[in-house]
Amino acid sequence: MNPVRSSLAEVLQTRVENTSETSNGMKTVVVTGASRGIGLATANKFLSEGWRVIGTYLNSSIPLEHENLTTFQYDQGDAESIERLAGEINNLDILVNNAGVLLDEDDTEVIPDKLRKTLEINLIGVTDLTERLIGKISPGGQIINISSSAGSLNLPNNHDHFPGYYPSYKISKTALNMYTKTLAGRLVGKNITVSSLHPGWVKTQMGGDEATRSPEEVAEDIFTLATSQVETGQFWHKGEKFPW
Ligand SMILES: NC(=O)c1ccc[n+]([C@@H]2O[C@H](COP(=O)([O-])OP(=O)(O)OC[C@H]3O[C@@H](n4cnc5c(N)ncnc54)[C@H](OP(=O)(O)O)[C@@H]3O)[C@@H](O)[C@H]2O)c1
Repeated sequence: MNPVRSSLAEVLQTRVENTSETSNGMKTVVVTGASRGIGLATANKFLSEGWRVIGTYLNSSIPLEHENLTTFQYDQGDAESIERLAGEINNLDILVNNAGVLLDEDDTEVIPDKLRKTLEINLIGVTDLTERLIGKISPGGQIINISSSAGSLNLPNNHDHFPGYYPSYKISKTALNMYTKTLAGRLVGKNITVSSLHPGWVKTQMGGDEATRSPEEVAEDIFTLATSQVETGQFWHKGEKFPW
């Protein structure tokens, strides 16, 4: 084969390897924290829509059995675990950074150890995993960071997000939103959309029984966002732009 044809063949081969579609046209979503709550419902939703799902769990395995589901144990607070997970993933279309912790729910003061741990998991871990996966995301793909109104600096005065409580969690989500913004700017022209999404108050282990939304409703929102063409670098809630 002459050198020109050889390099074209290499390019084509690279394209084939980089596409996340399997031979039957299936797309791939990575959902962190898919063992329960919003992540579990999201994994289930994508599976029911015919997607290949890579789901992670920390302690409890993912209570789903499906031929298109691959699961990995993953600790977002541990650099080696992040590196290992990223190494296992060859290609993807959508990354849903869902795994997160609320460690200072009853605190009004910042407890430095809790802040450190919260930032490790909710910010640095998300960032580290995302940076390792960006090059494996197909054109037209999306990164969706599950954030919270708790991290909004701009909510109207009448919002009821327990003013004064869980400062470390709030700081982590504000910082995550800034990652969404900066990354979206960086990826303009690369055909990868980056969003933050506020799920609302959701009935999960984190949200509690009094919460107003079900994980399944949020999974619908995430799926709709993931399969829509939207403006990059925005904060979404129920399909509408949300104040940063
Ligand atoms: N629920 C709400 O009202 C609400 C509101 C606003 C935003 N959010 C956000 O929505 C996302 C999901 O919340 P949720 O309510 O579904 O929470 P959840 O029920 O507490 O589930 C958290 C998930 O994250 C995983 N996880 C926890 N620590 C981890 C770590 N160090 N490494 C990797 N995975 C870890 C858990 O895995 P294991 O089960 O294996 O431990 C679980 O799958 C979070 O980012 C949260 O901040 C929730």
